[in-house]
Amino acid sequence: MSVPASGPEAAFELHDAGCRYGKLDALVPTTLRIASGDCVGLVGPSGSGKTTLLRLLNATVQPTSGSVSALGQRIDSLSSRSLRAVRSRIATIPQHLGLVPNLRVWQNVAIGRIGRRRFAGTLKDLLFLSKDSLAEIHELLDRVGIEEKLFARTSQLSGGQRQRVAVARALFQKPQAILADEPVSSVDPARAASLVALLNDLARERGLTLVISLHNLELAREFLPRLVGLRSGHIHFDQDSAAIDDKIFESLYQLSGSEMLEDEGGEQR
Ligand SMILES: Nc1ncnc2c1ncn2[C@@H]1O[C@H](COP(=O)(O)OP(=O)(O)OP(=O)(O)O)[C@@H](O)[C@H]1O
Ligand SMILES: [Mg+2]
Repeated sequence: MSVPASGPEAAFELHDAGCRYGKLDALVPTTLRIASGDCVGLVGPSGSGKTTLLRLLNATVQPTSGSVSALGQRIDSLSSRSLRAVRSRIATIPQHLGLVPNLRVWQNVAIGRIGRRRFAGTLKDLLFLSKDSLAEIHELLDRVGIEEKLFARTSQLSGGQRQRVAVARALFQKPQAILADEPVSSVDPARAASLVALLNDLARERGLTLVISLHNLELAREFLPRLVGLRSGHIHFDQDSAAIDDKIFESLYQLSGSEMLEDEGGEQR
C-alpha cells in the first residue's frame, strides 16, 4: 500500500525540495509528507541522502530548491528567532550522539533544553539544576532504563547506555518530533533492537513524530511501519514496511555500474 498524500496534520512536508552541494544533488527535488505521529524509517546505501533529508527537516541545511515545512511552518524562510523556536520542538539524535563525555549524565540530559532558553540560563542550569528538573531527568532516565546512572560521568558509560542518555536528552527537550540519524551504529544487534523499540514505544506513548535513519533493514522492517528508501538522492520507494519484499530492498542496495568499477579498482590496489 502506498502512503496517503493527505490525512492527519503534517509534521513535515517537502515540496520539490532539493539539496545540492556544488554540482552534487545530495537530494534531488523531492515531495514528501510525514503526518504528525508517524514513525518513519529512512533506509538506503551510504551517500544516498538520508542525513541530508534529516538536515532539511530540522533546518540545519536549507533547500537549494523548493520548500520545507516543519510543525506547520515554512522553515526555509523563517527569521532566525522563529527558526530557533521551531527547532526547539524538534529533537535530533545525531549519528555520534553529540554527548559531552566529561559531563555527568544529568548534565547531558539537561542540555536538551538548550535553544529554548538564553545561553546564560542554560549554563546556569548545567551547574545548578532545580530540584524539579533533576526529578524530571531522573524520571526520564528511569523510562529509558538507566536511572542509576543519573550522576555517572558520561565517558564511563557503555555505547548502549550512551544511546539511552541521548534519548533522554531528546525527551527532556519536550519535542513534538524526534529525528534520529543512525543512532544504533555502534552496538550489538540486541541492544540496537532494544533502542529502536524504545524510540518507537516512546513516540507512540507521547504522540511524537519519529523519523529514524537505519542501515539495519531487519530492524527497520520490524519496528517502523513506513519506510522511505533513498538511492542516489532519489526516493526509490515510500511504502508500508510490510509491503516491502527482499527484491525491493535488493534493488535499493544494488551497486551501480560505476560503483562496481570502483570496487574492482579497489581490489587491484
Ligand atoms: N556538507 C557537504 N558538502 C558536500 N557534500 C556533502 C555534504 N554532506 C553530504 N554530502 C554529500 O551528499 C551525499 C549524501 O550524503 P548523506 O550524508 O546525506 O548520505 P547518507 O545517506 O546519510 O550516507 P550514510 O549512510 O553514509 O550516512 C553524499 O554524496 C555526500 O558525500
Ligand atoms: Mg548519514
